[in-house]
Amino acid sequence: MPINKTGAAALRPVLDEQFASEQQAHSHMLEAMGRLAGSVAHDFNNVLTAIIGFSELLLLELPSDSESRRDALQIKTAADRASLLTKQLLAFSRRQIMCPILVDLNALIVDAEPLLRRAVDSRVHIRTVLEVPLPDVYADPSQLEQVLLNLVVNAGDAMPDGGVVTIETGVVTAGESYTARVEGMPPGQYICVSVSDTGQGMDCEMRNRIFEPYFTTKASGVGLGLSTVYGVVRQSDGHVWLNSERGVGTTFKVFLPAATRSTITASPCVALPDGGTETILIVEDETAVRDVARTMLQRRGYTVLVAADGEQAVRASAQFADRIDLLLTDVVLPHTNGRVVAEQVRAARPDISVLYMSGYSADTVLSQGFVAEGVQLLEKPFTESTLLSRVRKLLDARAAAPIHES
Ligand SMILES: Nc1ncnc2c1ncn2[C@@H]1O[C@H](COP(=O)(O)OP(=O)(O)OP(=O)(O)O)[C@@H](O)[C@H]1O
Ligand SMILES: [Mg+2]
Repeated sequence: MPINKTGAAALRPVLDEQFASEQQAHSHMLEAMGRLAGSVAHDFNNVLTAIIGFSELLLLELPSDSESRRDALQIKTAADRASLLTKQLLAFSRRQIMCPILVDLNALIVDAEPLLRRAVDSRVHIRTVLEVPLPDVYADPSQLEQVLLNLVVNAGDAMPDGGVVTIETGVVTAGESYTARVEGMPPGQYICVSVSDTGQGMDCEMRNRIFEPYFTTKASGVGLGLSTVYGVVRQSDGHVWLNSERGVGTTFKVFLPAATRSTITASPCVALPDGGTETILIVEDETAVRDVARTMLQRRGYTVLVAADGEQAVRASAQFADRIDLLLTDVVLPHTNGRVVAEQVRAARPDISVLYMSGYSADTVLSQGFVAEGVQLLEKPFTESTLLSRVRKLLDARAAAPIHES
């Protein structure tokens, strides 16, 4: 059960001079490492997107009993693993896609507790001491959960015979005298989340290296846990502090700026194009492509209806009582094509926008007469960002110049 600390019993940041200088020197090295890791991961990710996308297309084409299908599946599985690694490197280099919202850290911790308990040995107990009330922070909640998980798992690992991990929240007002000694930390109100253990602790040499990607002292460790913590916290305009002594234990403190109106407007979710609340009807006979598009759109707030062929599309359109803003249809469909489906849906909904998608090039579908010149065509395989931006653009264009029935 969490122990609620009421009142403004502020956690006073104890800035140990020794740690301060250690960390300051290392922040420069970590920045340089982050830039390198980020560039590599970014370029590598583009290559992986192609490998994954095309192996998915291969899998769609190959019959289920084909020998080559197993090979294609292996390619896809290996590429997915590689993609996870690049994601961790991108996290370290602060180039992750962030979707920040206002987050109540106390609630996040309480919700994550079952997950955290499952992640550590049963002899490790998790204790929470949560200050109430606690201002929100503006950050990506799933990434904050990852930060918490990485810190708690490490704390558990440091106490192989069991012990207590304490997660504590508090409000800290960091004044000039404090922040002047911490690079890139403006004065202001911060929420501090600390994760403490009474485990083996670290000496100076180790403390200097723990945020480096791939630094690990564990036989089965990868060494990306703390570099992810560092990247996520820095990308959220926060700071990580560490107190650790060999044989005494370790405390990590994560400082995140308390959200204000200006932080919210200053850092919108920039990495992915905007989502929306409109309704989109997807017509696609390939289940995998349909599911991917649906997931991408739903995750960004859209209401999505799906149909596997023309008949289902017309039925879905007839049965849906509200407005449907966009039809996203495959060009080549069983027994029909996207243009016919669009005409049928448009008969009842004349102002619906249409975005065609096709695995063939624009030239091919145009020359075969499947679609007319000037229509909007999205080529498969598409990335999440391309799909979202094409959809948003079309919807915005329509809002700017609504199509009226003549
Ligand atoms: N609470 C802690 N107490 C003692 N040592 C720690 C603590 N947290 C981290 N470390 C040290 O820092 C190293 C790096 O931690 P990090 O989480 O980055 O990688 P890891 O735990 O070894 O592997 P993984 O990638 O699986 O997380 C650890 O191997 C460990 O030596
Ligand atoms: Mg770890």
